[in-house]
Amino acid sequence: MALHSYTLLMLVTLAALATAGTRADEVLADSELVLTVLVHRHGDRTPVQGSLELSNDVDALREASEPYGYGQLTNVGKQNAYRLGQSIRKRYGGLISAHYNSSEIYIRSTDSTRTKMTVLTAMAAVYPAGNDNWSDSLPWQPTPYTTVPVRYDPNLAMLNCPTFKNAYYSKIFSSSPAMERYSDVMNQWSELIGFNITGIPVLAYSLYDIYKSQISLGVPLTEELQALLPEIKDVAGAAMDILFGDDDYVALEAGES
Ligand SMILES: *[C@@H]1O[C@H](CO)[C@@H](O)[C@H](O)[C@H]1NC(C)=O
Ligand SMILES: *[C@@H]1O[C@H](CO)[C@@H](O)[C@H](O)[C@H]1NC(C)=O
Ligand SMILES: *[C@@H]1O[C@H](CO)[C@@H](O)[C@H](O)[C@H]1NC(C)=O
Repeated sequence: MALHSYTLLMLVTLAALATAGTRADEVLADSELVLTVLVHRHGDRTPVQGSLELSNDVDALREASEPYGYGQLTNVGKQNAYRLGQSIRKRYGGLISAHYNSSEIYIRSTDSTRTKMTVLTAMAAVYPAGNDNWSDSLPWQPTPYTTVPVRYDPNLAMLNCPTFKNAYYSKIFSSSPAMERYSDVMNQWSELIGFNITGIPVLAYSLYDIYKSQISLGVPLTEELQALLPEIKDVAGAAMDILFGDDDYVALEAGES
């Protein structure tokens, strides 16, 4: 099962925003922004090894993954991450200084190579080298992040929270009313892959996951799967909702114990 991994980027600021002249509505009036929290995921990755066999072209996918290893950030993923950093700089530039300041920002990553590489790449765009260059030849500033070993990470409910895990496993094989409206697509899809996925949300999610990584790596789907992909995406979304979107458990996924 894919390890859920993401990066928590906390932008902390003590600046008062509700000053005269700003377009403060009634809620924001006389209030002070003390903390901004941004959560993002990693960029495109190679498939996780356990789901490789779900691909329509296992050999080509294995070969395309080889330069990186399985479950790792790809060059496309690094490009995503860099653009993410540029967009963070654009959106939050008013809250963080041009240069890294340890009092302003706290960055937390899952202890996973793809998320840590995502942070490093994104932060290169958030803090581009400027007039405080420490090197004549490197246009880059090192930006630190922190992490918690996987075993102790409260944000990894899938691994560390028995209550969430039990709920999750009870849903892996479950026919749900929410999936029934997709029965036509699931039947078409099942015919294409030679396996009936009806009543197996986790498979819908894992298959779409492998399709995403293989397309990003330039390994095409079959024409029939490609044509059905928009509908497949909807089914996978519904499956994800069942597995991870249950209101009774989302707080546990966010680290509540
Ligand atoms: C870093 O940010 C803190 C909090 O805003 C500020 O007090 C401090 O002067 C800043 N340090 C530098 C070197 O800009
Ligand atoms: C910082 O270093 C980069 C890479 O050499 C260079 O392109 C840039 O002009 C430098 N910036 C300043 C302000 O020295
Ligand atoms: C898959 O299984 C469901 C429920 O058992 C059934 O209704 C459907 O016809 C099957 N689809 C295919 C393509 O075999």
